[in-house]
Amino acid sequence: MKSLLIAGNWKSNKGIAEAEEWLRQFNAKWQMTNSKWEDETVVLCVPFTLLQPMKEEIERLRLPIALGAQDVSPFGEGAYTGAVNGKQIKELAEWVIIGHSERRKYFGETDPVLAQKVTQAKTAGLQMLYCVSDEYTVIPDGVGAVAYEPAGAIGTGKAETPDQANTVIARIKAALDSRNQSSPDSGNLRVMYGGSVTPDNAASFLAQPAIDGVLVGGASLDAHAFVLLLRSAML
Ligand code: PGA
Repeated sequence: MKSLLIAGNWKSNKGIAEAEEWLRQFNAKWQMTNSKWEDETVVLCVPFTLLQPMKEEIERLRLPIALGAQDVSPFGEGAYTGAVNGKQIKELAEWVIIGHSERRKYFGETDPVLAQKVTQAKTAGLQMLYCVSDEYTVIPDGVGAVAYEPAGAIGTGKAETPDQANTVIARIKAALDSRNQSSPDSGNLRVMYGGSVTPDNAASFLAQPAIDGVLVGGASLDAHAFVLLLRSAML
């Protein structure tokens, strides 16, 4: 059995009241599923402003959700106005997304800056979900999970076929394996698919031999859809 990683990415959506309502709905639906979720990991990557209130609520409700941020400063503590550093994130979350295509496209983030972010996240002890849009993108050492997200599939409703995604992910894994053979960081690296994943298609991606999880944008904004997706992943 694979140990799955299912991650939601809320992007720049929701305020505190909406996030609390999402958790309330998730909790109600989750209780009804009677599900056992032991080896799998569910991560919700939310805006910085939601980390503290959601952490408190997730602990109070004892939900099987780990929190993640969607970005981290390439620097540590210091005079970097507007930046949120790894140590600050680690107080509230376990995970961080690095290199999402929207960060590359709208914020001009390049491979060298992303490598610095990886270094900072690693120093802070954060688990990283590193995004790539193809099998050729450089993946820095020390990353625990990779999300393959083809540009044309993100937010378009046009997911790649599970078969195609499996082929690319198998190539990404083969490249990482040959590069990291002697590295202690290479064990347990999970590669997931992202791009228009829904409750209806998630299971077909997860059934592919090379795919270890899914990164879900739009469908994670709705608690009901997200529970349905988790349930389909467990069947
Ligand atoms: P989507 O986004 O599921 O809305 O396509 C995925 C992502 O960008 O992580």
